Amino acid sequence: MGTAETNTADAPSRVSESPRDAITIRDERTGRTYEAPITHGTIRAMDLRQIKTGPDDFGLMSYDPAYLNTASCTSRITFIDGDKGILRYRGYPIEQLAEKCSYLEVAYLLLYGELPNRQQYDEWVHNITYHTMIHESLKKLMDTFNYDAHPMGMLIATVAAMSTFYPDARNVHDEPSRTKQTYRLIAKMPTLAAFAYKHSLGMPYVYPDNDLSYTENFLNMLFKMPAARNYRPNPTIVRALDVLFILHADHEQNCGTAVMRSIGSSHADPYVAVAGAAAALYGPLHGGANEEVLRMLQEVGSVSKVPAFIEEVKKGKGEKRLMGFGHRVYKNFDPRAKIIKRMAEEVFEVTGRNPLLDIALELERIALQDDYFVRRKLYPNVDFYSGLIYQAIGMPTADFTVLFAIPRTSGWIAQWQELLEDPEEKIARPRQVYLGPGERDFVPMEQR
Ligand code: CMC
Repeated sequence: MGTAETNTADAPSRVSESPRDAITIRDERTGRTYEAPITHGTIRAMDLRQIKTGPDDFGLMSYDPAYLNTASCTSRITFIDGDKGILRYRGYPIEQLAEKCSYLEVAYLLLYGELPNRQQYDEWVHNITYHTMIHESLKKLMDTFNYDAHPMGMLIATVAAMSTFYPDARNVHDEPSRTKQTYRLIAKMPTLAAFAYKHSLGMPYVYPDNDLSYTENFLNMLFKMPAARNYRPNPTIVRALDVLFILHADHEQNCGTAVMRSIGSSHADPYVAVAGAAAALYGPLHGGANEEVLRMLQEVGSVSKVPAFIEEVKKGKGEKRLMGFGHRVYKNFDPRAKIIKRMAEEVFEVTGRNPLLDIALELERIALQDDYFVRRKLYPNVDFYSGLIYQAIGMPTADFTVLFAIPRTSGWIAQWQELLEDPEEKIARPRQVYLGPGERDFVPMEQR
């Protein structure tokens, strides 16, 4: 699809007779006008390339360093309306999925496009359940980390190492192979995460138990002690974690998912691609924010100190941020944060109230009335309340982002599969605007 050149410099400007899905661009450097079709509210950046000042001109490019206004793909997985605070997976509102589904049901929906019927669900659960064990050598690899290694570093390293155990994963265009890697990744991420946690405590690993549900099994691997064989996770905690997994499963083209697609576009195997996506997630501006929120609440220390803290954030002009607030896409309440806030109360009935909740509530109350946050449309995001629940169920702060990465794996894989089946798929390779020196001659070291 190329830009249709409608007019030349000498021709009169075009007057549109009837509305059409197209844009007319006039280049003031040359006086020429061009027409580009509009499809799904976008123009093709490549259509700009024909806009040139002369035959030696490379052609116009768009400049968008943080992808503020660039759609990098088409997708049929997740829909977000950031102004209205809407999130849907495959068309289903997140609120309905969180209320009525299990995480594995939602993972199936993300991957296959439809909710599973009973038989599909049972098969799916069976296939995930029977891939939860990890290779013993991977367990030994886990042993080599320092006792205080960050769990995200351990998770990223071990999921990348899985690439070496499953060389068949390199056949990224082989659908049965992709399906197998999908089972393995979704099944083994909780095992890697739980082993990383046990390693940090210096405790023996607890192997997966096929009689338990996905989330029960994860809690069992985390909290069961060899000496106390009767551990059974509390059903309220199991459900809360399952809902948190649903809420974190996908979020269209965020930083981590963009990395997953970028690595996937070079046809690298999905283990290293998930490792890359998880590395992006680890950052404090992304999934690492849940860990930062807890540190921030601890730093604030008490409800009475909240106003002073808010003033510090405002004076910091972006240097110091209210972690768990703000979002690139949501300019309204993050629907996930609303669900988590409600769920926190249910969890605290079992675990006892997390005293940091009052500080969080006060931060939210003041921020939502403060002109600084109101003008910038900064609302609580998914990470603002999730850490309070994670802490209440006994997870150390450093493990919070791991709890985000486990469910996001299904979203990453769904996006990766979609990418590989997209007829427009090509290796991701952005352009740049070069602003460095022009050509210059080499200077020997003695003369510099
Ligand atoms: N606290 C204080 N000021 C903020 C915050 C915040 N949390 N977030 C944005 N701002 C200000 C920012 O300083 C800027 O102000 P100004 O216009 O005066 O320069 C304005 O709001 C716009 O911010 P931005 O950095 O241009 O917005 P962005 O879309 O590039 O960044 C964000 C989005 C999520 C990185 C940012 O809001 C942020 O750093 N939030 C805190 C970290 C966080 O909670 N991240 C989790 C995001 S949701 C889960 C996920 O992604 O995994």
